[in-house]
Formats: sequence, structure tokens, C-alpha cells
Amino acid sequence: MIRTKEKWGSRAGLVLAMAGNAVGLGNFLRFPAQAVQNGGGAFIIPYLVSFVLMGIPLLWVEWAIGRHGGQFGYHSAPGMMHAIGRRALWRFVGVFGIFTNLAVAAYYAYIESWTLGYVWHSLSGVFMGKTAEQVSQFFSDYLNLGSGHFINFSPMALFFLIVTLAINIWILSRGLAKGVEIASKIGMPLLLLFGFFLAIRALTLDKGDAGAVNSALEGLNFLWQPQFDSLTNPKVWLAAAGQIFFTLSVGMGSIHCYAAYLRENDDIALNAASAGWMNEFVEVVLGGSIIIPIAVAYLGLDWIQANVGFEMGFRTMPTLFQNWGPYLAAVAGVAWFGLLFFAGITSSLAMGQPVMAFLQDEYKLSRKRSALTLGGILFLMALPCVFLYEMGAFGEYDYWAGTFSLVAFALLEIIAFAWVFGMEKGWAEINRGADIKIPILFKYVIKYITPLFLLAVFIGSMVKPSDGEWLAALTSLFQGHGWPLADDSVIGTILNKGIADRRWFIDGMPTKMFIINMTRLLLLSVFAGISLAVYRAWRRKEKQS
Ligand code: ALA
Repeated sequence: MIRTKEKWGSRAGLVLAMAGNAVGLGNFLRFPAQAVQNGGGAFIIPYLVSFVLMGIPLLWVEWAIGRHGGQFGYHSAPGMMHAIGRRALWRFVGVFGIFTNLAVAAYYAYIESWTLGYVWHSLSGVFMGKTAEQVSQFFSDYLNLGSGHFINFSPMALFFLIVTLAINIWILSRGLAKGVEIASKIGMPLLLLFGFFLAIRALTLDKGDAGAVNSALEGLNFLWQPQFDSLTNPKVWLAAAGQIFFTLSVGMGSIHCYAAYLRENDDIALNAASAGWMNEFVEVVLGGSIIIPIAVAYLGLDWIQANVGFEMGFRTMPTLFQNWGPYLAAVAGVAWFGLLFFAGITSSLAMGQPVMAFLQDEYKLSRKRSALTLGGILFLMALPCVFLYEMGAFGEYDYWAGTFSLVAFALLEIIAFAWVFGMEKGWAEINRGADIKIPILFKYVIKYITPLFLLAVFIGSMVKPSDGEWLAALTSLFQGHGWPLADDSVIGTILNKGIADRRWFIDGMPTKMFIINMTRLLLLSVFAGISLAVYRAWRRKEKQS
């Protein structure tokens, strides 16, 4: 077996790259939206508990699976899962670790490209003097939304997508130490600089300052006033656990891949915890101190509760910055969208590397050819998100790859690690070369609590009831009225519960229902295609040995 000689250049580079993998658009766009939609202070406790009982243990497990796989020359999930599970089945579970990265990277790179486009537009002063409606309309025009056409075709959006993919591919083609590591060493400090600048400006906005109608601190109060009754609300728990998954990038296969480039006795206990805590700091301290306080200062809490969502970062923020005068508005625009761009790219690089590693390890492609192949696949996979954004393709990618697959893979990998590989060996693997002593309690958390937690999240998302009302659903069940399945539960989604008209064509034109189902078929085909590639790679190995 040809073993890659690639290794991380420095410990700081490794931790920054891992933190960059975690810190992403999720920290600044998804977290505030989730927090607001789930009651602000009601969200934070389940969120932090999920971090400690599920996030941190999964980080250690994924780093350990990755470093262990790396010793056998595996840098992507199929091989690593084979190395711990020792049966063909686990290689195919590892397919998730390629599939999720590809599918998430495809739609993620599209959002990332908007941030690049918006840096350019902020610099060129496009938003100056525009009303709130005009700025919001600019976003619709940028993506060609609401035109009534079947296809959202926007040359500008496509142009920035190609540029974004090209930058990603170029960095990846330079290799780990000269590409990803340098990008993280530049991107992360700049991101922090922009983040602190915006957070300080936001938190010093008092009522009456620069047109603010409320104090920004009201937004912060909303987020940080703990509401203990939320602890019994499964809806909030599901949302909090989902955010922990997305923000830490666990259940994806990207952490495993980065960890595979460690040396046998390199620390993982402290490194994993540092990268995880760095992500949490950026998410709850910086992510929580920009969009919510600024929007509350200018638009009020009720407005943000009714309108929050990730598009708000593009539709609303440039208008709000205008209150700070033309120069500061331009600087804030560049800082905000620049911060999002750096957050995004350090994460999308981590999604690309496992696919590159798979092609290099299992198909012996050179780094450049792997990078180009990845670029081609990502471009093709992003096209449905671009052209069929309003027809639901983008949402399907996010649901199946960015939400469902993460939980499914995490549940399977922790079973493989704690129960098949075995917790004694697993604990020794996590602790080899450790620079901190992990409390022994975590050995039991990893073996029992985290898998049960994951199982609860998995089953919970399968059968989530309407409006997240579990008590009402149970009562309904026991009274013989059946289970009121939520439209966005996994089963409800498969059954297309939320779509009233299930026809595939109307007047000869494909409907949203058709596009949604075709997108699912596409994603399933990608999963099957990767499984086939794994099967062929191992058959070849078996023949050679
Ligand atoms: N962890 C990455 C994010 O938060 C995917 O955006």
C-alpha cells in the first residue's frame, strides 16, 4: 500500500484547521436563527448539555477513529471504519463520511459564494442609499428568486460559485500543510478580528445611538436569560442537538480525515477539546453578539422572532449597517461578509479533503487530479441547488445530507467504536499521547450516554410530532387518534406530508413535488455510486493481496 507522507506542519496549524472546520456559516447564521426560534434563553441550556454529553464525546471518538485509521494508511471514513469494525459492513457505513461531505459541500459552497459576492458588492457600494426593501430585493435578484420561472438562473450567482469552487480546489490541490493549514492560519485570525469588531460595535449600540430604537443588550438578554422549563421540551432538545452536530461538523467524516494526518502518539485529547471549545466560543460569544443584538436594536425582538432565518444575514444586515454612516457601513459590510466567507471556506475545505483522500488512497489519483475531480463533482452537484433553489432542491440537500445523515452516521460510528472496537481499546486510543487527563467519567459517557442520546435524537427526528407537541401527541395516541406526525419529521418528509398537491406535472411542467423527489433520487444515487466505488476499491485490494 502506498502511504501518503502528508502530515500537519504544526500543532497550531492543526488546531486552527480543526477549529476552522467547525467554525462556519452555522456559527453566524444558523445558531442565531435556531436560538431565536427556540426561545432564546430556553435554547442555551439544552444546547450546552448536548455539547458536553454528545458533542465533546463525539469529537474524541472521531479524532480517535481518524488517527487510528491513519496508521493503516486510511484518510477517509470507509477505510477507517473498516479498521475499527473489521467487517465489510463498516466500510459501507463509512460511505456516509464521503457522501455527507460531498452533498453538504455542494450547497454550502453555494452559500459561501454569496458571501464572496456580497463582499464585492459591499466594497463597490451597491447597498449605499438603498431602502430596506431594495436591499432585500437585491438578494432575490442576486439569486433570481421570485421571477416565476421554473429555473433560478443568475449569471452573477453562478460566476461567484465558480470562483468559490476554484479557490477551494486550488487550496486543496496545494496539500495539507501548504494549502489548508495556511488558509486556516490566515482565515481564522481575520475572522476573529472581523467578529470582534462587529460584536463590539453591536454591543455598544444603545437606544437612540446611530438610529437604534432599542438597546442591543435587549437582544443579548433574550439569548442569555436561562429558562429552565425548556429542559422538558423535546422540540428544543432536538433543535439544540441538531445545532451541535452542524456546528461541530461531527457525523460528517471531515474530523476523521483531518485527524488521520496525525502521528501515532500525537495528542488528541487536548487538541479535540481545544478545537471544540474554540468553536463554542466563536458560536455563542461572537455568533450570539452580532446578528441578534443588531437586529433587535433596529427592528425589535418581535420582528426578529417573526423573520429570523439564514437569509436575514443577506437581506437585512446591509441595510442596518447603513445607520452607521457610509464609511463604517462599507467596512461593516466587508467585515460581516468577509467573516462569513472565511468561516465558510475553512469548513468547505474540510469537506473536500475526505473526498480527495479517498481518491488518493483508494484510486491512487494524484493530488491535483483528485482536486480537479472533486471540483467537477462539486460543480455538478451544486447545479441543482443553484437552478432549482426555489423548487426545493437546496432544502433537500440540507435536510438529507446536512441534518439526517449526520445523526445516522454518528450513531453508527459510536456503536462501532464503543461496542465493536470495544471501549477498553477505544479509551486507550483516545488517551494515547494525551496532554490532558480526561475524566474517567467520559469513558462511560461514550459507552452508554452518548449512544443513548444519539438514539433518542435519531428516533425523535424520525417521529417528531406536529408543532413538537410530544405530550399532546402521546395523549392523541393513547386515546386512539393516532400519532400526529410533523411534516418535517423524517417519516413525514419521506411521505411528503407537507405537500398538498402531490402531482409531478401540471400543464406539462414539473412541479416542486417532482423536483423534490428527483433530488432525493439524485442523492440516493450519489450514495449508491460511492458505495460502488468503495466496493470496487476493496475488491481490487483483495485481488492484489
Ligand atoms: N461546522 C460548519 C458550520 O458550522 C459546517 O458551518
